[in-house]
Amino acid sequence: MGRKFIVGGNWKMNSDKDQIAEIVKNLNSGPLDPNVEVVIGVPSIYVAFVRSILTETIGVAGQNCWKVAKGAFTGEISAEMIKDVGAEWVILGHSERRTIFGEKDELIAEKVAHALEAGLKVIACIGETLEEREAGQTEDVVFRQTKALLPAIDTNWENVVLAYEPVWAIGTGKTASPQQAQDIHASLRSWLTSNTSSEVAENMRIQYGGSVTASNAKELAACPDIDGFLVGGASLKPEFLDICNAQV
Ligand code: G3H
Repeated sequence: MGRKFIVGGNWKMNSDKDQIAEIVKNLNSGPLDPNVEVVIGVPSIYVAFVRSILTETIGVAGQNCWKVAKGAFTGEISAEMIKDVGAEWVILGHSERRTIFGEKDELIAEKVAHALEAGLKVIACIGETLEEREAGQTEDVVFRQTKALLPAIDTNWENVVLAYEPVWAIGTGKTASPQQAQDIHASLRSWLTSNTSSEVAENMRIQYGGSVTASNAKELAACPDIDGFLVGGASLKPEFLDICNAQV
């Protein structure tokens, strides 16, 4: 069976209840390609609200969570809480968590392990900075970031999606070219074959993220190793539906 295309919308720290109601109304009215899985990553405080008004065919994700179930961690939320208020997914290891909040591979792996154990599905983000790309280190970086996740994922691969997001393409309007994205996705799949199994590699869905819009989505979606998108800015706009339908 082929890999089901999966598009994530990452709202980041944007929107209020009125704007959310508008976005959700648009998503609910579609039309959405039935062959695409859609998940939206919302600020945790709005997870229950979004879940209560969003069509059930679209998944909801938290954008982060802590690495244990509960305790004295003021200001944090757990995977269990995200699940309790109705989300099925969590985005972990986003480059904004890595660069702004200083999250390292090891912490991200601990979070991934706990989220999976708690029963959430995980969109695990990886990607190189501009400096790393220019130094020819792209593969080293994404392989290192993925390697750190292996013990955390263990045999739970069916509940994980990898999101390759070159940091230099996030929110900058500079998309990786389809060829640049395809090359890294293919290298990652080949790395997964060598470091996990050919079955895991063949089934692993790898999303591309970084300035995806309705105008570049079709060309990116046509690449054989691009299995979906993780969309930031454009996921707040009506064009998100066109991005979800990029394969139609
Ligand atoms: O999680 C999504 C990415 O950070 C991409 O954001 O589409 O605004 O570039 P962007």
